[in-house]
Amino acid sequence: MIKRVLITGANAGLGKETAKQLTNNPQIEKVYLGCRNKEKAQAAKMELEQSTGKHIFEILIIDVSNQESVIEAVQKLECSVDALIMNAGGTGGQNFNKLTPDGVTEIFAVNLLGHCLLTQALLKSGKLTQVAIYAGSEAARGVKEMGMKRPHLPTSSEEEFAAICDGSFFGEVKDATIPYGTIKYMGALWMSAMARRHPHVKFVTMSPGATTGTEGFNTLPWFKQYFMKSMMRIMLLLNKVHTVEVGANRYLQGLFNHDLESGLFYASERGLTGNLSDQSLLFPDLKIERYQENAYLAIQRFL
Ligand SMILES: NC(=O)c1ccc[n+]([C@@H]2O[C@H](COP(=O)([O-])OP(=O)(O)OC[C@H]3O[C@@H](n4cnc5c(N)ncnc54)[C@H](OP(=O)(O)O)[C@@H]3O)[C@@H](O)[C@H]2O)c1
Repeated sequence: MIKRVLITGANAGLGKETAKQLTNNPQIEKVYLGCRNKEKAQAAKMELEQSTGKHIFEILIIDVSNQESVIEAVQKLECSVDALIMNAGGTGGQNFNKLTPDGVTEIFAVNLLGHCLLTQALLKSGKLTQVAIYAGSEAARGVKEMGMKRPHLPTSSEEEFAAICDGSFFGEVKDATIPYGTIKYMGALWMSAMARRHPHVKFVTMSPGATTGTEGFNTLPWFKQYFMKSMMRIMLLLNKVHTVEVGANRYLQGLFNHDLESGLFYASERGLTGNLSDQSLLFPDLKIERYQENAYLAIQRFL
């Protein structure tokens, strides 16, 4: 039974809404709010306590783009969690393409590398017992509606995946939405490789779908922000995107729906909202074990 859950990026958007929805489930005893900023974390905790009347939230300071911070957070966690929701992420800020001291781009560190380290460190110390959810994105299989192309890797070798980690695969791109989808694709492959290695834990990549009311586009350049936000407004009118409540509920399905299989990536069957489906039916590369293993091995080089 899932009683204790850790959510990264829990002070805003989908992470905070997920923390809120977890309080509707009487079996949940503790929700760790994994946040990098103490003031924002305290404000979110207070808001969650007031809106839910529940006092089950605990702050865990963690910056997933910093390996030291991740290890410190795992050490500070006084007991195990039954579930981890790897939600922190997005387009990586103004300097998304800048390299971190670990040799990966900021956008890679926040969306994937830090979560890989976090999951591996939790498992190693016996502090993750049942479910790991990774925030995927429909961008990982391409989104025609938003002009995002399906990731294309000529060889899918370990070397090529390592080039995604350090950004050399993309070169001097100015648009963070270009590496974003490919990194989320690599995250889904890594999750499948982890599912094989740790069969006692359920690994589900779950896209929250196109969700309005979050802060996800706020660090993009103004023209890209304007374009993405305008697209979202039009698509909301056309029922092609959904609210943050619906998006967060998808993570809960990942946690509690026993029909969802470990190692698979679930996202919108069509477009960016609506029913969920196994994304390998749309993008068969997700199912190829060699690609999954190469993605996994490339990530290990930076840990
Ligand atoms: N919204 C969508 O339409 C959509 C669609 C598909 C997938 N997703 C995925 O869903 C996840 C959440 O997105 P969102 O729209 O809710 O974004 P959001 O509103 O921008 O919230 C992102 C959260 O992540 C935190 N965060 C960022 N960098 C971090 C770091 N280095 N360490 C720890 N926390 C960090 C932020 O904290 P600060 O407040 O400190 O910055 C914030 O709490 C992301 O992984 C995103 O890629 C979103």
